[in-house]
Amino acid sequence: MSQSSSFSPKKSRSSGRSPKRGKREEPMNIPHTRPWFPESMRRDILADLDKVMASGQLMGGEFSKTLERQYAERTQTGFGVSLATATTGLQIALRYSGVAGGEVLVPAASFITDVSAVQMEGATPVLVDVDPQTLSFDLADLENKLTDRTKAIVWVHLIGYIAENYQDIQNFAAQHNLFLIEDASHAHGAAIDGKPAGSLGDVGVFSFYPTKIMTTGTGGMLVTDDSALSDYAKSLRLFGKDLQTGEIVHRGNDWFMDEFRACIGVHQARHLDEILSRRRAAVSRYHELLRDCNYLRFLSPSTHNQPAWYQFPVFADDGIDAEKVRRKMGERNIACKLIYRPIHKEVLFETLSQPGLSKAENALKQSLCLPLFADITEDEIETSAKALMEILSEEAGV
Ligand SMILES: Cc1ncc(COP(=O)(O)O)c(C=O)c1O
Repeated sequence: MSQSSSFSPKKSRSSGRSPKRGKREEPMNIPHTRPWFPESMRRDILADLDKVMASGQLMGGEFSKTLERQYAERTQTGFGVSLATATTGLQIALRYSGVAGGEVLVPAASFITDVSAVQMEGATPVLVDVDPQTLSFDLADLENKLTDRTKAIVWVHLIGYIAENYQDIQNFAAQHNLFLIEDASHAHGAAIDGKPAGSLGDVGVFSFYPTKIMTTGTGGMLVTDDSALSDYAKSLRLFGKDLQTGEIVHRGNDWFMDEFRACIGVHQARHLDEILSRRRAAVSRYHELLRDCNYLRFLSPSTHNQPAWYQFPVFADDGIDAEKVRRKMGERNIACKLIYRPIHKEVLFETLSQPGLSKAENALKQSLCLPLFADITEDEIETSAKALMEILSEEAGV
């Protein structure tokens, strides 16, 4: 897999028309994210969707098999199972590992369904504080939260960044016999020490939701080396059918990814290296432009860590009101978001709140995620970075 960032963002997006003389230029409206379907890819997809319709096989066909193989190969795992969503993958992994009645450790900086999937599977999520340098588990708190009811860990590679201390997390899981589920929804193509996201735990799940690094509209993928888990996932996604006899042997659901979405996924996955290279180039450019800014902290991956950069977060110093910065960026038509709200600040999960989640709270509150997508232009990057620096100076009172 190529990890190069040799690509440079184009200066500007061509509209194909030159601006009319005397007409004032519209202010730039820079979205937070945008899926990438260049014209040639769209043409290829349309031709293949036609083949799907002509074949009459709308599920479990060649495109599903190809996408599963692409993900198994990319993650160096034995099996890929395409699914309706990543959340279904989390549910399958949790159910397979027998968490019902037990506790599951989940980072306080995670997505809603990392927690709700645990509850839907009859277990109790236990929130763990987060190390602001890795955006992953604070190891001391991980140890703290371990009880004799702990069954599994949901390990989220937030923003596509694998924690530098990933081996400590793996060792902790192994030492305590805990099932390690990687939520790699943000981490398509991320790797550390040459090991891909999705291959670091017992099972990995990826999301193809519209905002994700690659998309099928909605969709998900489970990867694992465990053939029994792969068979279990294939049964659960098809109403719980035994794959040989067709009898219903599990309480399953319709969790299939249909052939249309798989077809789109195959084409997106073929371009994943290019998507990653474009995103990485944009992040390098942001770094160049922002590195001398006094009010920001950056994630600093070592050279053996290759984040997927699902988002590009920088972190405002504690004295700065980051909420106001995000709002002011919005007033300039530049989308700038926080990574997520801490999970226990969501109304549904307030009861999971407990003292000692302050590192996660603070890192998320101070996070500023700048626009990032595969075809972001040099103009869009420069405009966003310049606006951020100006607003930070205003807020710092200089
Ligand atoms: C970290 C994380 N996990 C899980 C999900 C759920 O993905 P899906 O919508 O494919 O179920 C998302 C979706 O945004 C996510 O960001």
